Amino acid sequence: MNIQRLINMKGKEKIVMVTAYDTPSAKIAEKAGVDIILVGDSLGNNVLGYNSTIPVTMDEIIIHLKAVKRGAPNSFIVADMPFLSYGCSLEESIKNAGLLIKNGANAVKIEGGKIHCNLIRKCINIGIPVMGHLGFTPQSLNTFGGYKVQGKEQSSKKTILENAVQLEKCGVFSIVLEMLTEDVSKQITEKLSIPTIGIGAGRFCDGQVLVFHDIVGLNPEFKPKFSKQYADTFNIMLDALKAYKEDVKTNKFPEEKHIFKGGK
Ligand code: KIV
Repeated sequence: MNIQRLINMKGKEKIVMVTAYDTPSAKIAEKAGVDIILVGDSLGNNVLGYNSTIPVTMDEIIIHLKAVKRGAPNSFIVADMPFLSYGCSLEESIKNAGLLIKNGANAVKIEGGKIHCNLIRKCINIGIPVMGHLGFTPQSLNTFGGYKVQGKEQSSKKTILENAVQLEKCGVFSIVLEMLTEDVSKQITEKLSIPTIGIGAGRFCDGQVLVFHDIVGLNPEFKPKFSKQYADTFNIMLDALKAYKEDVKTNKFPEEKHIFKGGK
């Protein structure tokens, strides 16, 4: 997979993207044959126990990116630029984007619109492919005042559409559209010649992205309307641990086949 193939998939074949944060989940994603693995900063909510993506640092993303790369060495990996790793100084932002590439990412994802066009152009000029992210952008949770669907008002529709056009012009190879009304994401998808990848953005995007933990049901307390749970891994694991506990308490584990014997 590469950015040109992804762009060529637009209108022909849907793009499948999934998050992964560690070696086992990356192995599963690669084996399932997804098109893109995203080392998302949703790492914060799904693995590190934060209540948003805002505390996630470059160091944390890099540790998890390297683990994902080891699990999925042949996959196309996009890494999220965490909050404050970009947007302050241009030089530092470019260096941070480059660090993600050095540590195994094939591209970086940046939240926000045309305000980042200068950074995006510079990244692309030095060989760092960039994916955009519009609609509800979780790093701006405090500005949005909560997890709110975007594109409901006429003014917000216009701004998001305008930003999508500007992002394409400055060279992003794809744009994630998150929690956006279906009419707006359809309009953007039809207008752009690069693929859109939706999460809570309806049926007309060129691809879909979901969080690994939501797909496999690892986080029973969080069931967003836009997601689909395909397995109940939390309860499968819970049952396994309960069975193990019971076996130890009742001397059923270890058995003869689990022990090592010394010589005579
Ligand atoms: O971090 C993440 O999981 C994301 C997806 C919501 C696209 O950015």
